[in-house]
Amino acid sequence: MPKTLIITGGSRGLGLGIAKRFHKKGFRVFSIARTQLKKCYEIEQIQCDISDPIALKTAFDTVFKTINELTTESIVLINNAGMLGEVDTIGNISLESIQQTIHVNLTAPMQTSALFIKQTEHWRQTNSMDLCGWRNS
Ligand SMILES: NC(=O)c1ccc[n+]([C@@H]2O[C@H](COP(=O)([O-])OP(=O)(O)OC[C@H]3O[C@@H](n4cnc5c(N)ncnc54)[C@H](OP(=O)(O)O)[C@@H]3O)[C@@H](O)[C@H]2O)c1
Repeated sequence: MPKTLIITGGSRGLGLGIAKRFHKKGFRVFSIARTQLKKCYEIEQIQCDISDPIALKTAFDTVFKTINELTTESIVLINNAGMLGEVDTIGNISLESIQQTIHVNLTAPMQTSALFIKQTEHWRQTNSMDLCGWRNS
């Protein structure tokens, strides 16, 4: 039975490394990020800006359309996508920039977790469910 990983920000850095590692361990891996990697066929890539709530919901719907709960042993979510944001004294950072950083690092991971729970809560009756990365590190 396949195991599945959904990771945000699997297009580079830590997220890409984690995605590749899970794939090596036998997981089916979905990455949700803005960048589409060419020649990274082992990872199923969903192009999405996680700060767009409608796009994020569509991305989750797309992923879950292709997963069969009865043949999935376990499913893991890792909220990895994040951004540093502008580094400056607070007075020099625009409100828009602050809001975008908070949205990507806090609001979007909360929405991601909520979407994941909504899609999988009924799975608990039939399958075991692994859950990690509920909040951004
Ligand atoms: N590296 C460190 O030392 C360190 C330390 C503490 C915490 N962290 C946290 O660990 C995570 C990964 O760090 P990293 O160094 O690997 O970061 P990174 O190299 O900058 O990668 C960030 C990932 O997040 C994705 N991402 C950013 N904004 C996004 C958006 N709006 N929509 C969708 N995806 C988005 C990026 O994909 P796209 O650009 O393709 O969208 C990319 O795949 C981050 O949350 C970071 O805050 C890292």
